Amino acid sequence: MRLSGKVAVVTGAGAGIGKSIAEIFAKEGAKVVVSTRRAANGQPVAAEIVRNGGQAIFVKCDVSIEEDIKVMIEKTLEEYGRIDVLVNNAGVNFVKSFEELKPEDWDRVMNTDLRGTFLCSWYSIPHMLKQGKGNIINITSVHTLAGLPGAAPYDAAKWAVVGLTKSMAVEFASRNIRVNALSPGLIDTQIWDDIKAAAPDMGECLTYWKSNIPAGRVGTPEEIAYTAVFLASDEASYITGANIVADGGMTSQLISQEPFKSKSLEGGSHG
Ligand SMILES: NC(=O)c1ccc[n+]([C@@H]2O[C@H](COP(=O)([O-])OP(=O)(O)OC[C@H]3O[C@@H](n4cnc5c(N)ncnc54)[C@H](O)[C@@H]3O)[C@@H](O)[C@H]2O)c1
Repeated sequence: MRLSGKVAVVTGAGAGIGKSIAEIFAKEGAKVVVSTRRAANGQPVAAEIVRNGGQAIFVKCDVSIEEDIKVMIEKTLEEYGRIDVLVNNAGVNFVKSFEELKPEDWDRVMNTDLRGTFLCSWYSIPHMLKQGKGNIINITSVHTLAGLPGAAPYDAAKWAVVGLTKSMAVEFASRNIRVNALSPGLIDTQIWDDIKAAAPDMGECLTYWKSNIPAGRVGTPEEIAYTAVFLASDEASYITGANIVADGGMTSQLISQEPFKSKSLEGGSHG
């Protein structure tokens, strides 16, 4: 019960990482606002949390629509009276070469991943200031450390969210509001469906991805959720402005050694 009594809003909580954060936050004692674009995705997540003895409500919110965000925060306050933790998780990504990009592709990613994060934070901050305490977790990506071909809008949006995180962390540190970024590596969720579909050979694509992850596997939504639990808890009380990376070592590796693996890299030779 590391989040006992805390009120947490999780955006994009109908699937993948957001769903897992909502479920595990509730298990850890938080009262959770499960927020999604589509009721068909979010309502069952909130209902399941309640069936399992947790506390949750569903609120419909498309983070690219300002009015939806305003209503989401109002409903949170009506139901639970405060907002302790905001998890800006909603995000979109796709692969498209720079030459094929259209201005509307750029806007779609920016409006969700960057403007959505800004607006959800902007509507939450006044209440956190009134409470004298608050906590914002921005789900970013390993794309905040390096770029990927075909992902220019996503790379730009996520880098910008780290900038927003640092600026807000500094501005609000003395007022007891912590703001951090949490950057997952490769996590198997539906966000990859389009990308996998675009690969000529899906099996080969997954094998290649895994060869670039020193841990030798993709991550799970639960592994990201437990990292978020730590950031949301008072155990992380001195952490603000950080970009916490959870990627199985992917971004620590200069280049995959897989094709050249030798006995000396597999251990057992020391001494
Ligand atoms: N899966 C990965 O490998 C990975 C890696 C790094 C970062 N991330 C980030 O994690 C977050 C969650 O992604 P995921 O992997 O769980 O993908 P996902 O597609 O399973 O979940 C994303 C969720 O965001 C929702 N969403 C999209 N646009 C929205 C909008 N305008 N308003 C409200 N909700 C919206 C979707 O409906 C979906 O429920 C995203 O911010 C993503 O960029 C994912």
